[in-house]
Amino acid sequence: MRLRLEYRFSSSIENRAHDTLDDVLVDQFTIKEIGHSPSHEEISQLGGLMYDAYLDTVDYEGETIEDAVGEIQRTLVDRFYGEIIPEATLMVIDNQTNNVVSAIITSLVTPSNVNEVQPYPMILYVMTAKQYQGRGIGKTLILRVLNALRSRLNGQASEKTHLQSSNVKLSVNNLNTVALKLYESLGFERLPNEN
Ligand SMILES: CC(C)(COP(=O)(O)OP(=O)(O)OC[C@H]1O[C@@H](n2cnc3c(N)ncnc32)[C@H](O)[C@@H]1OP(=O)(O)O)[C@@H](O)C(=O)NCCC(=O)NCCS
Repeated sequence: MRLRLEYRFSSSIENRAHDTLDDVLVDQFTIKEIGHSPSHEEISQLGGLMYDAYLDTVDYEGETIEDAVGEIQRTLVDRFYGEIIPEATLMVIDNQTNNVVSAIITSLVTPSNVNEVQPYPMILYVMTAKQYQGRGIGKTLILRVLNALRSRLNGQASEKTHLQSSNVKLSVNNLNTVALKLYESLGFERLPNEN
């Protein structure tokens, strides 16, 4: 049976890992914010990336590339899962091909749990095209997001997103061993199941 596991990263935890892309791959890739109004071309590229990354994984349920483009549209344009946090929603471009090869999408989620009152950031998607996996890109994106959210909290008032929570959450399929290992190595803590 498939189970979603909830993870949380508390801002009191120091990152244990280094931003590997900075050290090794900085000339090959560009990391940039996806921004509030992604172009048609960017949506299409992100959909292609999502399709490629999830194809034949434990999360794949026969979705087509059009489904993936639709999901990107729903997430980034329709804000179905909440407001997008721009500095925590990034894409990685291969400088040689100009293709989007990895991305991370973070939104500000309104809690459904009555005990939580403040919106919190949630990493909705992390994905790297299969050909580019295992080079440290995914880890780098998560570290960038954690650092960006921490700076935002520690720094100025967060007018744009009303970000108040120090906890970053994400949800992952219990069979997704690569992702589970990655999150745990970065200091994410598993939350007890609600049901
Ligand atoms: C999870 C994912 C985003 C990681 O992206 P990535 O760019 O490969 O990440 P990294 O290169 O930073 O690798 C992270 C760790 O996973 C390991 N890893 C990456 N790809 C792997 C693979 N195919 N098999 C085994 N381990 C793998 C790396 O060795 C690394 O571990 P290490 O730090 O101990 O060396 C990527 O595998 C992916 O897109 N998966 C499909 C989508 C998905 O499941 N997203 C998460 C949903 S919650």
